[in-house]
Amino acid sequence: MTTPLHGEDFLHDLRLRSAAHGGIFRLDDGQLAVFDPAAARLVSRANWNGLVMTDRLVDMIRRRRSTEVPWARVRTAWLTQLHTLTTAEHTAEMITRMERAIDARLGDDIDLVLLAQDIAVQSILPVVLSGLTTRESARITQDLHQKLLRLIDRHPGRGPRHHARFVAVQIRAGLVVRSVLRDRASGRRTREPDLTDPIVDMLPDLGMDRALDVVTAVLTAIGGPPGSAAASVLYEFVRNPLWAEQLALELRSVDPEEFCAAPGTAAPATHRFVKEVLRMWSPPLLLVRRARVSTDLSGTRLEVGQNYLVSPHMIHRDHRFWQQADTFDPDRFLPGAPHGPADRTCYVPFGWAPKKCIGADIATSQLMALCYLMCTRYRLTVPNPDTVTMACRFAPIPQHFRGRLVRA
Ligand code: HEM
Repeated sequence: MTTPLHGEDFLHDLRLRSAAHGGIFRLDDGQLAVFDPAAARLVSRANWNGLVMTDRLVDMIRRRRSTEVPWARVRTAWLTQLHTLTTAEHTAEMITRMERAIDARLGDDIDLVLLAQDIAVQSILPVVLSGLTTRESARITQDLHQKLLRLIDRHPGRGPRHHARFVAVQIRAGLVVRSVLRDRASGRRTREPDLTDPIVDMLPDLGMDRALDVVTAVLTAIGGPPGSAAASVLYEFVRNPLWAEQLALELRSVDPEEFCAAPGTAAPATHRFVKEVLRMWSPPLLLVRRARVSTDLSGTRLEVGQNYLVSPHMIHRDHRFWQQADTFDPDRFLPGAPHGPADRTCYVPFGWAPKKCIGADIATSQLMALCYLMCTRYRLTVPNPDTVTMACRFAPIPQHFRGRLVRA
């Protein structure tokens, strides 16, 4: 099924210009669009290789160097920790948390975008930061929620009073992270198997301010894309009843333990469905980066300090690399499918090395788990699925997407 994007004039124009210029061109404001798959890969590698964290503020003021911390060290610590957090047991716990988030809204007429966000955040937050009190957890989720409302253009309000409130919520969330880092380092809190924990060990080298930035980076990363992708899964689920039926057939007969241990192997059709959702509706739509080095991109020079844009979405919808690029068809991911990815560089929902998303595996499991719940435990009804459209915000966001969930 082909879906029109509403409010997409800017993106549509980018697609036309990208097609006309082979994926590399300058925007009117001078930023360089790098939408060619090979060039996006090259510029990411050139730009981020050997990245080290900026010095601590206190050291900048005193005009001295901080202990050098390569970004790769932080990423390795996260990826090592994530390895222990993607077991069958952890996936089962994540599914339980998702169920809890859904059960809290059972039977109500709800905004499914906000529900998807809630499911995504509540189920993934303990992977990033666990052992919080109810109050601390509420402070973090409130901060993520208010940032999301801004990203999807549903401001809770404008003006200085609202801005002050926004900042206050952000500060309170920062204080929670700070106290977790400090308390774990001093032994006042127990160590937890989450992505914050390896950062506690790096505190002597990072210092509190950089440690806070690092944890905030991963909190920000879970605040937007996972919820938007979950909303897109629900959207395609209701818009494609035949696929919903195929998923139900597969997931109702799957062994739950096998599903938790290896979702992609246990439920291949569901895996294809999720991969296609991530191709069609990749969040975030555009990533703006500043060039740290000069790079030559097929004859166009990117100079140090200039901004450039990369976009999984633009690559995924490029007709040069995808047949029927605007059509939702999970079977394009069957081996040998003629309308499948032309090569590995054309399917990049999680970005590019060496900054590629660290949460790719857990995020895919999470989206598959959402399909599992929709097919085995709940029934989702959306009154008029054909009136639901997609709008371009920071990511594709379904509009007028309300419905009701009941236990199956
Ligand atoms: C469907 C869900 C998700 C999508 C589509 C997604 C997508 C992305 C993309 C496109 C990037 C930028 C990569 C680049 O610059 O080349 C990124 C970065 C990142 N993501 Fe995700 N992400 C998702 C879920 C998650 C989750 C669940 C986590 C944490 C467990 C996470 C943690 C991160 C982090 C920490 C970065 C920054 C990596 C770095 O700067 O080195 N993401 N993600």
